[in-house]
Amino acid sequence: MNQPVLRNQSEWDFCPPLKQMIATDRAEGKTGKVFDSLGAFSTLGNLRLIRALMLDKKPRKTIEIGMAFGGSCLIFANAHQELEHEPSQQHIAVDPFQTTFWDSVALEKLQEAGLSNFVQHLEQRSAFSLPVLLAQEPESIEMAYIDGSHLFEDVFIDFYYLTLLSAPGGLLLFDDSTTPEVKKVLRFINVNLGHLLEPIDLNPWRHQANESLVKTIGRKVTGRYQMTAYRKTRSLESGELRSWDSSFSNF
Ligand SMILES: C[S@@+](CC[C@H](N)C(=O)[O-])C[C@H]1O[C@@H](n2cnc3c(N)ncnc32)[C@H](O)[C@@H]1O
Repeated sequence: MNQPVLRNQSEWDFCPPLKQMIATDRAEGKTGKVFDSLGAFSTLGNLRLIRALMLDKKPRKTIEIGMAFGGSCLIFANAHQELEHEPSQQHIAVDPFQTTFWDSVALEKLQEAGLSNFVQHLEQRSAFSLPVLLAQEPESIEMAYIDGSHLFEDVFIDFYYLTLLSAPGGLLLFDDSTTPEVKKVLRFINVNLGHLLEPIDLNPWRHQANESLVKTIGRKVTGRYQMTAYRKTRSLESGELRSWDSSFSNF
């Protein structure tokens, strides 16, 4: 994780297993595999932001690509519980390596937190699971967090299917939006999909999540944002992001 730990001791009290991982930067898997540094965790800023968005927007169906130790998964599931949604596996978590490399840490932490019934885990690469979900329930997801493989082609595939899977008005959140591979996907969206995906200014939720003033100013000066968000502005009954004869703007 390698980030400033517990700024405020009580901040993560709502989810003790999450709080413990953040405080110790350590986790143990189902078979006893020990992870001594939780480098794959989402930044605490992202976790705060997802929580603030969840509690404000109250989406009923959510998805994340990339579970690792379960940072974001615990936040999503916990928010569904706080919002008093009936547990019905309404948060889908896609990760092909959860029970192998990650030794089921996230699944164990969900169980410890009493949140397992809010989550459906798909142990598959997102490129294989998202088309199946799309065939089952198009335009059903109200908030999606893209934090799986950060390779350009995988982020592109995630964005493509999640846009089709998103309900009109749904939010698409991209982690690591300053890395070159993610940035390339965002440039395609910005240049070619303005009619469909509207960029969202996340600052109101950053303030709600009590981001420090220094960080906010730092972001404004450098233009570096860990997370970038879009809102799907309309329904796509045709199933295509752009009509086949659209002009293409290079990016
Ligand atoms: C940065 S970590 C996710 C962190 C997590 N969201 C959190 O908040 O702590 C990236 C995850 O993506 C998973 N991953 C890698 N390739 C993937 C793919 N093709 N589809 C879905 N997940 C993938 C990895 O196994 C890893 O758990």
